[in-house]
Amino acid sequence: VASPNAYAVIGDPVAHSLSPRLFAWMFRELEVDARYEARRVGAEGLKDVLQAVKRGELRGLSVTLPHKEAVIPLLDAVDPLAARIGAVNCVAREEGGTLRGYNTDAEGLAFALEDGGGLLLGAEVLLLGAGGAARAAAFACLSNGASVLTLANRSEARAVKLARELVEAERLAIDGAATVGQKAFISTAPLTAEALGRPLAQSTIVINATSVGLDAPSEDPLPAGLALGPRHTVLDMVYRPLRTALLQRAEAQGARTVDGLWMLVHQALEQLRLWTGVRPSNERAFASRAHQHLT
Ligand SMILES: NC(=O)c1ccc[n+]([C@@H]2O[C@H](COP(=O)([O-])OP(=O)(O)OC[C@H]3O[C@@H](n4cnc5c(N)ncnc54)[C@H](OP(=O)(O)O)[C@@H]3O)[C@@H](O)[C@H]2O)c1
Repeated sequence: VASPNAYAVIGDPVAHSLSPRLFAWMFRELEVDARYEARRVGAEGLKDVLQAVKRGELRGLSVTLPHKEAVIPLLDAVDPLAARIGAVNCVAREEGGTLRGYNTDAEGLAFALEDGGGLLLGAEVLLLGAGGAARAAAFACLSNGASVLTLANRSEARAVKLARELVEAERLAIDGAATVGQKAFISTAPLTAEALGRPLAQSTIVINATSVGLDAPSEDPLPAGLALGPRHTVLDMVYRPLRTALLQRAEAQGARTVDGLWMLVHQALEQLRLWTGVRPSNERAFASRAHQHLT
C-alpha cells in the first residue's frame, strides 16, 4: 500500500536494482521517515505510475531503463540540465502535485570523480561510449568545465552524432544564458589503440560509459597497448563486477580508480536531497559508508 512517504524506482527489468537497498539504508541513517520499493513498470504502465505520484500516493520516483526518455513528455516541468541531456532519472512531486524531472546521473558522476581525485574543471577527458550513460557523462563534463572532451565509440558515427548534439545543446544553453561551463573542445574517435594514443596521453580523466565489462570480468573497453599512468583518474560506470578489468589495469599502471558504485551513491544522494531537502552533514564520509554498505 502506497503512503505519502513512499518512493519507488521504476524500470523494466528492475529486480537487479541496488537502489532499494541503498535508499533504505540512507533513509534509516538520516532518520528520514520514508519507504522505497522497486516497481517493474513497462511502457504501458508509465502513465499510470506518474498519475499515482501526481495524486500523492508516491512522493517521487527514480527512473531507470528503459524509461529515462519516455518519461519526459509525461512531466509538468523538466530541470534545464535534464532537458539538455534529454533524459530524466528522478521525478519529484512538488507542492500542489507538479511533477518535475531531474537528471542526477550527471552530477553524481562529477561528485564521484571529484571524490576520487579527478576534478573536471579544466580537465581533458577521454569518454568511452556514446549511449545514454555517455550522454549524461558528456554533459557532466561540459557543465563542470572540462576543456577537452574526446568521445570514443565502437561505432564512431554514433560518437559524431552525440558530439553534434552536445555542440548544439551547449550553443542553445549559452544563447539562453542558462548555467553552462566554459567552452570545450569536442572531438570523436573510434575505439582503437591507434586513434586513442594521443587523447589518452593528454587526458587526466578517463570514463568508461560503455557496457563493456558488465558481467564480463575479463573484458576491457580500452584497447590493449594503451598506457594508463599516475596522471589518470579512471572511472568505470560498470559496477558488476566492482573491480572491472579496466579498473584493475588502471590500478596496476598507477592510475587512480573510481568504481561505478560511487556514481550510483552520489546520484542517489542528489535524489534524496531533491525529494526531502535532507543532506548529510559530511557528504563525502556518508557516501563512503553508503558505498561500504553496498559492497
Ligand atoms: N554507475 C552508474 O550509476 C551508472 C549509471 C548509468 C549507466 N551505467 C552503466 O553504463 C553502461 C552503459 O549504459 P547505457 O545506458 O549508455 O547503454 P547503451 O545506451 O546501450 O550504450 C552502450 C554503449 O556501450 C558500447 N558497447 C556495447 N558493447 C560493446 C562492445 N562489445 N565493444 C565496444 N563497445 C560496446 C556501445 O557502443 P556502440 O554504439 O558501438 O554499440 C555504446 O556506446 C551500462 O553498463 C550501465 O549499467 C552506470
